[in-house]
Formats: sequence, C-alpha cells, structure tokens
Amino acid sequence: MIPIWKFLSASAAHALAPLGVRFYSDLPSRTSPEWKPFTWKGLSFANRLGVSGGVDKNAETLDCWSRLGFGFAEIGTVTPRPQKPNPGKILDRDWNEKLLWNKMGFPNAGQYDVRARLQTLGPQAVPVFANVGKNRDTAPEKAHEDYAEAARILSPFVDAIVINVSSPNTQGLRSLQSKEMLGTLVTHTRENSNGKPVLVKFSPDESETALRESLDVAAGHGAEGFILTNTTLSRPPDSNWPETGGLSGRFLQERSKAALKVAVRHFQASSSKPLLVSAGGVLTPADVAERLDLGADLVQVYAALVFEGPSFARQTASYFHEKVRTS
Ligand SMILES: Cc1cc2nc3c(=O)[nH]c(=O)nc-3n(C[C@H](O)[C@H](O)[C@H](O)COP(=O)(O)O)c2cc1C
Repeated sequence: MIPIWKFLSASAAHALAPLGVRFYSDLPSRTSPEWKPFTWKGLSFANRLGVSGGVDKNAETLDCWSRLGFGFAEIGTVTPRPQKPNPGKILDRDWNEKLLWNKMGFPNAGQYDVRARLQTLGPQAVPVFANVGKNRDTAPEKAHEDYAEAARILSPFVDAIVINVSSPNTQGLRSLQSKEMLGTLVTHTRENSNGKPVLVKFSPDESETALRESLDVAAGHGAEGFILTNTTLSRPPDSNWPETGGLSGRFLQERSKAALKVAVRHFQASSSKPLLVSAGGVLTPADVAERLDLGADLVQVYAALVFEGPSFARQTASYFHEKVRTS
C-alpha cells in the first residue's frame, strides 16, 4: 500500500485517519483473521494483535478494527469530563526514523459521549478494552475518583478497563505509578469496574526496581494484566525534539522490550500469571512475533498504523499463516 498520508502534515494525516480507516475497513471480505488464537477470562481473541490506547480515543472507528484484521481493540484514554488537547503543537513524526512525538494530553469527548457511542455500536466482534485517565484539572489527591468514575460508566460496555498512569502529557500523572498512590487507584477502579478485569499501563522510563514494585503493588490490589509500555520521555542523542512530549516508534523498541522482559521474569514463578500486553516500537510482523516469543500474551501498535497504514494487521496475519505453512 502506498502511504499517501506521508505527504500530508502530521496533523492533517491525523485528522483524516478516521475516514481512511473507515474506508479501508469497508472493503469486502472483512473479518478478523485467526492466527495464534487465545482465550483469557472467557474472552476469545482470534489473534494477538490490537490497536493501542490513543488510536481510537472516542470509539469513533471501533467497529472497523476487527474488519481490518485486529484481534482486539482499545479505546481511550477517556476522562470523566470532555477535554481539549494541550495548547500548541501536539503531534509530529520522523518518517526516516519511524518515530512519533506527541503531546496530546488526553483530548477526548468525555465518558458520557463515549458511553453513548458504545451503546449505539452494541457488542463488538473482538474484545474491547477501555483506557481511562484523569482530567488535567483534577487534583492528584482526587485522581482515583476520576479513574473510578470513568470505569463505572464505561465498564458495562467493554471487556476490560486499562488504568493509564503512564502518559507523560498530563502533569503529575506518572506519580500515580508510585506505590503510595497505585494501590488506592487500582482498588477504587476495580470496585467500579462491574467485575471486568483491570489492567495497568506503565511507562518505559522507570528503573527495574520501581517497575517491579509497581507490578507487585498493582497485582497485590487485584490488577489482572499489564500493558508495557506507554511513550518515553527519553531522547535520542543530539535530538531536536522538545523536552516535553512522549516519543514512540522505533526509538522506544528496546525500552519497551526491556520492560516486557522485567514483567515476564517478575511473574515467572507466580501461580496466577497476569495478562501481559506489549506495546512500543512494534513496526513489523516479525516484531509482533518477537514480542510473543519474549512472553507477551498480546501485542499492540500505534506507530505501525502511521508508518505502515491500515493493512498492518492483514500483513501480520499473512506473516503468521506463512510461518505455519512453512514450519
Ligand atoms: C499520538 C499518540 C497518542 C497517544 N495517546 C494515548 C492515550 O490516549 N492513552 C494511552 O494509554 N496511550 C497513548 N499513546 C501511547 C500508545 O498507546 C503506545 O503505548 C505508544 O505509542 C507506543 O507504541 P508505538 O511505538 O506502537 O507507537 C499515544 C501515542 C501516540 C503516538
């Protein structure tokens, strides 16, 4: 597929993406292809590849993802009240480096609009996770109320809730990963998730010790899965990117794999293994295979959709079908 969106500005391509996704998903013979099928907590995944948080913030194109070949989808980050993006430039990309920079800050339609959309759409062909966060003007000591509220409103219409404590673009959000805050957050969110499993999405910028501590605290309070990772605040040498904003794509690859390896090792001997979802720098079907080999149960992409386009899930299915055929 020729990436015509390469010739648009990052913001124009972003604005037009939902139209492209819908158009491409309306092409004939569109169901989610089966490869490495997987079941977790009664949820059936036809395959292991999903769209990452932030791609479909308001569930605007939720019905398209299975038709594009994805095995699951994540909506959000959704906050209780609607909010606008951060001021100024919020998105850019480096095509040669396959790198994205964003400083969005959870622009979204708010929990009630997104719930209405989920109600209109009805049940989906693939499992759906809802990623929830706090509004930027909610005080840190009240953050858990925002997460619990968004979980309460959205959980009846989705299959799992994802607690996002790792976006670098909402001031103070990452402090919620600390052991002092995380336990309360997971407990309150679980109490309001209508029995749906709760996952936590972590940053790639924690030390191994801090990440292991966060995994323990979250699991100890009933989190049943983890997404590793969100975007990074680190920068390539001689980088011209602003200090603020998160980087993803190829530059994130090694950090994201390192966090996955820490989590896999951490739970190796545990009797109840949590769901491990790998995100960050997955840019080719071979990258998907590598994450599964490293111990991920599921894999998510954002940058691959930008650089490879909406056929990425079909390319990945062909790759795995070919692997089975030649093995
Ligand atoms: C423009 C943009 C917006 C994002 N918005 C969110 C978000 O709202 N919530 C979230 O949990 N992650 C968000 N992310 C992070 C992605 O879900 C993912 O964790 C990260 O981009 C790494 O994957 P990638 O290398 O495939 O892009 C966003 C990423 C980008 C590039």
